[in-house]
Amino acid sequence: MFPIHRPRRLRNNEVIRRMVRETSVTADDLIYPLFVTFGKKTKKEITSMPNCYQESVDEIVKSAKEVHSLGIPAVILFGIPESKDETGSEGYADNGVVQQAIKAIKDTVPDLYVITDVCMCEYTSHGHCGVVKDGNVLNDPTLELLVKEAVSHAKAGADMVAPSDMMDGRVGAIREALDDEGYEMLPIMSYAAKYASAFYGPFREAAESTPEFGDRRSYQMDPPNRREAIKEVELDIEEGADIVMVKPALSYLDIISDVKDAFDLPVAAYNVSGEYSLVHAAAKMGWIDYDKVMMEVLVSIKRAGADLILTYFAKDAAKLLRS
Ligand code: PBG
Repeated sequence: MFPIHRPRRLRNNEVIRRMVRETSVTADDLIYPLFVTFGKKTKKEITSMPNCYQESVDEIVKSAKEVHSLGIPAVILFGIPESKDETGSEGYADNGVVQQAIKAIKDTVPDLYVITDVCMCEYTSHGHCGVVKDGNVLNDPTLELLVKEAVSHAKAGADMVAPSDMMDGRVGAIREALDDEGYEMLPIMSYAAKYASAFYGPFREAAESTPEFGDRRSYQMDPPNRREAIKEVELDIEEGADIVMVKPALSYLDIISDVKDAFDLPVAAYNVSGEYSLVHAAAKMGWIDYDKVMMEVLVSIKRAGADLILTYFAKDAAKLLRS
């Protein structure tokens, strides 16, 4: 009790604060998302996500080099194909944009760890994450396409695949197929607890993946649910997930914390597009300090229990951590 206890003693100067600091963010924790598009010499800024671009393969390679030089260990790739169809066939084409980008990055920056997002929504004409029939997104027929996509990424040289579609049973289906094809050492990071969130708005501009009709609430989780996240994560672990992800991050810090407490696998959190855009917009208005808010966002996600953070802030954070 006061005056014996004075917690302020350990906050008195930066040295002691550094010594008792419980959480730190380093470049090693970060994964940077990249958007690959078709064509050549294309680098188009995404209006709602400042400093993020849709880039053709030649440009992606330059970005990959930059990410690597900043000490960020990994990227996650999203594709914007030239043409879309009902079954998202560009998603599993041998010469699809992501498949080309994987090869090009691994050829030039072999040490950069390449993760791929496995999902149909960027490749389907209707923008849903699976096969659509009579206005419904079908689960089991979608698994076949996801499996093909994951295997094609593996063949192109991906280091890890990350299914983000939220179909039931996809981790097991992908694991089995990868093993059959000889990729038993390729890890799966599952978007295990992925919520139907309005925070994905800017990403859908970036990936041109807004659903043409309806929404994703029949497959992504309902935001008010907490215990259900544990069930989703448990199922993915049983099916063979190596890393489990919670998405989005900021409005779901309780979920990150629950998952970290309940399981002993590494936990990833996706600091999504809307969370990035909010900070940029407010900073542009002069209402907040961009660097400080960015670091507070990232440290809060780690403090909640994330081991890895997928974030559009990765490059800015890595630069700041260096200086
Ligand atoms: C694909 C996918 C989405 C995101 C990552 N993978 C969008 C969605 O589910 O609509 C969102 C990422 C972000 O908002 O930064 N299914």
